[in-house]
Amino acid sequence: MSKIAYVNGRYVLHRDAVVHIDDRGYQFADGVYEVCEVFRGGLIDEKRHFDRLAYSLAELQIVAPLRPEVLAVVIREVMARNRVDNGYLYVQVTRGVAPRDHVFPPKSVRPSLVVTARQIDPEKSAETARKGISAVTTSDLRWKRVDIKSISLLPNVLARQLAREQGAYEAWLVDSDGMITEGAASNAWIVSGAGTLITHQIDHTILRGITRTRLIEIIAEQGLTLEERRFGLEEVYSAREAFVTGATTLVMPVVRIDGRQIGTGTPGPVASKLRAIFHDAAERT
Ligand code: PDD
Repeated sequence: MSKIAYVNGRYVLHRDAVVHIDDRGYQFADGVYEVCEVFRGGLIDEKRHFDRLAYSLAELQIVAPLRPEVLAVVIREVMARNRVDNGYLYVQVTRGVAPRDHVFPPKSVRPSLVVTARQIDPEKSAETARKGISAVTTSDLRWKRVDIKSISLLPNVLARQLAREQGAYEAWLVDSDGMITEGAASNAWIVSGAGTLITHQIDHTILRGITRTRLIEIIAEQGLTLEERRFGLEEVYSAREAFVTGATTLVMPVVRIDGRQIGTGTPGPVASKLRAIFHDAAERT
């Protein structure tokens, strides 16, 4: 079956899908994106993802390319044409195509919209979660507005590459005060010796993860204790458990950080339980 992408109003063969060299996404990384999980044929927390897309666009003064109800139709069509029932949906919006100039182009320039969908075997992720992943810490080199889900991801790319080269899956980013902000493509969490869940508070130095938001609701329902605050390396190394959250990782146990075993060095009960009940609590549409 041929893969299909939506590009600026047309459904095209994925292998033929192109954008112009003057697209501001290509020239300046002047754009935003969303990644939404597809689970059993439905989208997980779709409304929250598209509300965040609207937020990212508004913060960068990029006009929404389609009304939300039209975008919802396009998304469903891309999922259907690619027969994706488990995997991910990717939506990218840039400020559009215009001769290279840092200043915004005239209002007549329409934003560019790309939608793709990818099938993933859920068993692979489940298998990874049974073993847990490794992470390494590295300096957070990103700009000061990472609450905007911008396609400008060079520091994240470099951090993930560093992790890969050190045999780890994720990089945890450390700010200039020695505090963990988040993962290169996930939010970072620890469980303290007392059983308290800890994750960085919401501000401009982390992305407000949709998985994070949903998990906070689940944590409350479960009667667990949560602290949204900064935490440093000492707390990480002495944590009972660690995990990351994200649309592509769900709740993923982290069993080793910077080569040090976290807790027992195997996925802990808190992360494993939260992962197991996540989809029952999330909204699927
Ligand atoms: N990344 N923090 C960063 C820097 C991220 O890139 C992501 C997600 C998250 C988690 O957000 P959410 O729970 O809404 O997926 C946190 C996506 C999956 C990506 O770039 O592929």
